Amino acid sequence: MSGVQLNDVTKSYGQVNVIPPLNLSFREGEFVVIVGPSGCGKSTTLRMIAGLEPVTSGSIHIGGQDVTWSRPKERDIAMVFQSYALYPHMDVAGNMSFALRLAGRPKHEIEERVRVAADMLELTEYLHRKPKDLSGGQRQSLGLVRLVLQDPAVVLLDEPTASLDQATEQHVIKTLGPWLAGRTLVLATHRKSLLGWVERALVLRHGKRVMDGPLDQIMARQSAGKTPATSASRQRQEAS
Ligand SMILES: Nc1ncnc2c1ncn2[C@@H]1O[C@H](COP(=O)(O)OP(=O)(O)OP(=O)(O)O)[C@@H](O)[C@H]1O
Ligand SMILES: [Mg+2]
Repeated sequence: MSGVQLNDVTKSYGQVNVIPPLNLSFREGEFVVIVGPSGCGKSTTLRMIAGLEPVTSGSIHIGGQDVTWSRPKERDIAMVFQSYALYPHMDVAGNMSFALRLAGRPKHEIEERVRVAADMLELTEYLHRKPKDLSGGQRQSLGLVRLVLQDPAVVLLDEPTASLDQATEQHVIKTLGPWLAGRTLVLATHRKSLLGWVERALVLRHGKRVMDGPLDQIMARQSAGKTPATSASRQRQEAS
């Protein structure tokens, strides 16, 4: 069971409310993309689902359990961030295996799983480098390896390929596609290249859901101009 529900979730930073009451539901095994202008609340929503950002009010359920106040590691969720969250003092292999070591997995199992995942995302030759000695794209691939190693039921991807060149992005799309099957995926992206994975699109604006439906229908409505342009300046114009 790995469906995700947000019930009347709000988020404020100080006096500023960025997510008004938001109700969302992701079915188990569903692949959903969240789109919308910069600042509309995509990352905030993913971070609240992951438990990295507390909700201001409302509740979050995963697999039917109320996880609103559970810690991230209790949620069977893994997230790849828009900005990398790596341990700078550990080498690539250490970064990859951190969660498995914490979980007390046997050494031979950790080594084998790291080897397979590093090979999958073409990082084998960098296993003994520190994150600072990697390119932006290699750091992002490292984030994806950690995701694969975690083997989560729910996968949250926040612009997971933003730092990858086109060839690497295509490799990642091809490799991760089969791995994602059977998991629940919530993806936030501005990139069209990742939409091949996706069945359903949600459009957020100022933290509100303004469209929700099959990807092809939402894209057709957006390109037919029924939705105003999704630029930040347009959003500001609308707000004023
Ligand atoms: N720690 C914070 N303190 C104050 N405001 C914040 C904080 N984090 C995010 N915000 C604000 O919350 C709003 C939503 O931000 P969020 O990062 O979720 O947007 P986004 O849709 O992911 O944008 P992008 O497409 O640029 O990644 C923005 O107005 C942002 O400035
Ligand atoms: Mg974001």
